[in-house]
Amino acid sequence: MIALHAGTAYTAVMANLTIRQLDEETKRKLRLRAAANGRSMEDETRTILRELLSVDRSAAGPRAPRPVGAAPAAMSGARPALASTPAALRRTVSGLAGASILLVIGGGVAAYKSLDLIRRLRERGAKVRVVMTKAAQEFVTPLSVGALTGGTVFTELFAREAEHDVGHIRLAREADLVIVAPATADRLAKMAAGIADDLAGAVLLATRAPVLLAPAMNPAMWSHPATQRSVATLAADGALFIGPNAGEMAESGEAGIGRMAEPLEILAAAEAILTPRDLPLAGRHVVVTSGPTHEPIDPVRYLANRSSGKQGHAIAAAAAAAGARVTLVAGPVAIPDPPGVEAIHVETAAEMLAAVERALPADIAIMAAAVADWRAATRAGEKIKKGSGAPPRLALAENPDILATVAHLKAGRPRLVVGFAAETSDLLVNATAKRRRKGADWILANDVSGGQGMGQDDNTVHLVTEAGVETWPTLPKEEVASLLVARLAAALGELKEAAE
Ligand code: CTP
Repeated sequence: MIALHAGTAYTAVMANLTIRQLDEETKRKLRLRAAANGRSMEDETRTILRELLSVDRSAAGPRAPRPVGAAPAAMSGARPALASTPAALRRTVSGLAGASILLVIGGGVAAYKSLDLIRRLRERGAKVRVVMTKAAQEFVTPLSVGALTGGTVFTELFAREAEHDVGHIRLAREADLVIVAPATADRLAKMAAGIADDLAGAVLLATRAPVLLAPAMNPAMWSHPATQRSVATLAADGALFIGPNAGEMAESGEAGIGRMAEPLEILAAAEAILTPRDLPLAGRHVVVTSGPTHEPIDPVRYLANRSSGKQGHAIAAAAAAAGARVTLVAGPVAIPDPPGVEAIHVETAAEMLAAVERALPADIAIMAAAVADWRAATRAGEKIKKGSGAPPRLALAENPDILATVAHLKAGRPRLVVGFAAETSDLLVNATAKRRRKGADWILANDVSGGQGMGQDDNTVHLVTEAGVETWPTLPKEEVASLLVARLAAALGELKEAAE
């Protein structure tokens, strides 16, 4: 019942759908999306349909205004599909720590509470930028806000220095979450209409991050059908609401619904929005090794191999994107650390083993590094000179096997231990034997004869498990990584079910 388009736009058409009838490109996208979400293609299709139908429902008409007298400080509104918003995708670290929050302070008495909110957000490790509306500056000064954020407070849409330096589009794009507190009736109406005649309006229109609104206004204004129409429109657009609460108003003798939610409530809502819940590896710890190791011979020479780290880094990135906390132990590579992972840089096999042991416990260990099997038995303190005699003899000592060490741990063994087998002959026979010998649950075998696989962008792998061998098609390393992560998430789920 759907047509699948590039990206995340899906429109309804009338047709009976089976996956087989989809064109190749669409199938490829569906496979990727399913792998990234740890679902089968059929499940992914069902999820897309569900999302599509719920969007249609919420867009079908404005919600009834919330009745006066029954408004807890609960978060409400149509939850934006966090996994499909670019800002949420970009961010793989969970929670407030390290998150970029853009706080829009609107013009209301409750603006003073936003000062406390800034302090609390920063205490939890969030980076806070603040946009103040003109009216907000009647209640709190940019000076006091700036003192709390330790940075510039943005007030003007056309401030030359600010536009040059940051600019409203960057303000909008760099946020993981936008909070509007207090959100006045006027702001809600402007947002619902898409008005961008000030900096706050422009930023709110330009952002693709989730938007959390903390309304604050007089109860009569809140319950007015015009405000409730704005609320319904904004909720249908995907905005999230916290509050307003019921209670005494600033105006003496006035009570009802309209008090802004407390800073702690806003904080909890922000935390919940930024914590991915439905990702397949949420709450899991994954340790990945990647790249080669360098084994020094003297201060200038070392033993190494051709590993680029592309496959290991792609796996670390895919695990992080699937919601895991990822520790990447990387040998010397020329590629950047993937976003959202804790990267530990090492040089030698011994350092790699020590870093992996420090990183444990973990749910999954994926040993993708091409660890040098041998190191120089002794490491010369000075550069070895040519001299006049015969070439020096290089005595080697065997390095510890990190995969075998982790897989044979008696206590604290990760539930799934995965290794690679880079072979130049008898690929599957060698890989199957290697899996047993090293005690790994799975081995991804790849043929590296003639320089295949190493350093390249595509990889042809065979998944060797206790159940047998499964050959995957040649895929970009990112897709191999997504498939592996999806399989691991599913296997971990099955292990959990079996244990219950
Ligand atoms: N590995 C490891 N520590 C080592 C050597 C290898 O953790 N000292 C891991 C690699 O990360 C990979 C797997 O073991 O996951 C197999 O690596 P590979 O180089 O194919 O195997 P070797 O152990 O080197 O065996 P051989 O040289 O006999 O093929």
